[in-house]
Amino acid sequence: MSDNKVILNYDGKSFEYPIVDSTIGDRGIDISKLRDQTGLITLDLGYKNTGATISEITYLDGDKGELFYRGYPIEQIAEKSNFTEVMYLLLHGNLPTKDQFSNFETGIKKYNFIAEEMKRIIDAFPRSAHPMGVLSALTSALTAFNPKAVDVKSKEEMDLAAELMLAKFSHLCAWTYRKTQGLPLNHGDNNLNYVENFYKMAFRLPYEDFEIDPVVVEALDKLLILHADHEQNCSTSTVRMVGSAHTGLFASISSGVSALWGPLHGGANQAVIEMLELIEKDGGDVSKYVAKAKDKEDSFRLMGFGHRVYKNFDPRAKIIKKAADDILGKLGIQDKALDIAMQLERVALEDDYFVERKLYPNVDFYSGIIYRALGIPTEMFTVMFALGRLPGWIAQWKEMRLKGDPIGRPRQVYQGAEKRDYVDIANR
Ligand code: CMC
Repeated sequence: MSDNKVILNYDGKSFEYPIVDSTIGDRGIDISKLRDQTGLITLDLGYKNTGATISEITYLDGDKGELFYRGYPIEQIAEKSNFTEVMYLLLHGNLPTKDQFSNFETGIKKYNFIAEEMKRIIDAFPRSAHPMGVLSALTSALTAFNPKAVDVKSKEEMDLAAELMLAKFSHLCAWTYRKTQGLPLNHGDNNLNYVENFYKMAFRLPYEDFEIDPVVVEALDKLLILHADHEQNCSTSTVRMVGSAHTGLFASISSGVSALWGPLHGGANQAVIEMLELIEKDGGDVSKYVAKAKDKEDSFRLMGFGHRVYKNFDPRAKIIKKAADDILGKLGIQDKALDIAMQLERVALEDDYFVERKLYPNVDFYSGIIYRALGIPTEMFTVMFALGRLPGWIAQWKEMRLKGDPIGRPRQVYQGAEKRDYVDIANR
């Protein structure tokens, strides 16, 4: 290997592959000619070492535990910014001026309602349906009401599509919750900002005035910021992959919602609270569950622990842990789950199994404790994650289309049956 290329010796020949530079972090080997030149493909289950694209949106360093949105460290963003500004930053690449901020907010507010027909669609779901399934279906259904494909090269069209998606999706998230509670479905209130508007749409009761609690809004804003993007994770890669077939924005985002639902990804926030409740009911012995997580014969995993990229503290988990402490204090709530989570973290971080494998608490470990303190039911946690991740999905979809990434189409190493002749059913 020299500084800017990798040399592969195979079958008595030598092949050179250029190295693609990065601003910071991993550089990539460009193997686009590998198969043509050698007849070989790479095999990397779970894409553990595979860069699927070149991106300018989010950077994370798993060894140092660093996360930047468009270059800004997450700690600064979480402390000083707000979710609307972060949505703008991810979508447009820079922090907005006052005018840009206000135009963006007004642009979203133009779409602060949902076609009444959507209510009939949500009506058809049973009340017991998981909100993530309903959210994915409703997001896809948006296509029916906005059938025109977006011309991504037109800045105006792309901006409008993003603003429309941001506005409508917050309604859908609120409605999935109201559906589970049997509450009437609300439209938005343009006197409020994005997070306040969602909060009111979701939680306003039909028989009383609604007061915006600044502690709740601040907590929601922070959580949404911390979930807003995380480079090429499973749901984002899904959105990009689906979009790479030139599938529309709403359908691509809908598939991202489905990917996020899984317990190894965004669904972990629900799984963490269920695990903490289980440990509490079982007498609170955290060591027993740490032992179960280490036992290879037992399928139990410590939910909210471990990460594909972070081999150090997830910087979001650090911020959320502190926020959980603050918010519970401000709301005067004592939650046994927080005590159990802290004990579990302490025991796991001192255990060789977790130390050797570099398994630390991730973003989902403490987020559910905050949602619970805000009165949000467990099944809604992953919907909250989706609301936060939406600007990231849109920004990544837009980047993929603008850069003209080719259709995503991995190859495989086939190990099935060799060619054989069809046998008629009578002779089998
Ligand atoms: N509990 C117990 N053992 C674990 C855990 C865990 N939570 N996570 C990883 N390990 C072990 C795993 O068994 C393996 O051990 P060994 O080397 O002996 O086979 C080793 O650590 C490496 O794990 P892996 O499964 O190969 O790692 P991965 O990068 O494929 O998976 C992960 C990453 C996040 C899916 C996994 O750590 C996990 O299942 N964690 C629990 C679910 C969770 O919290 N998910 C949220 C992730 S962060 C938010 C998001 O993505 O949305």
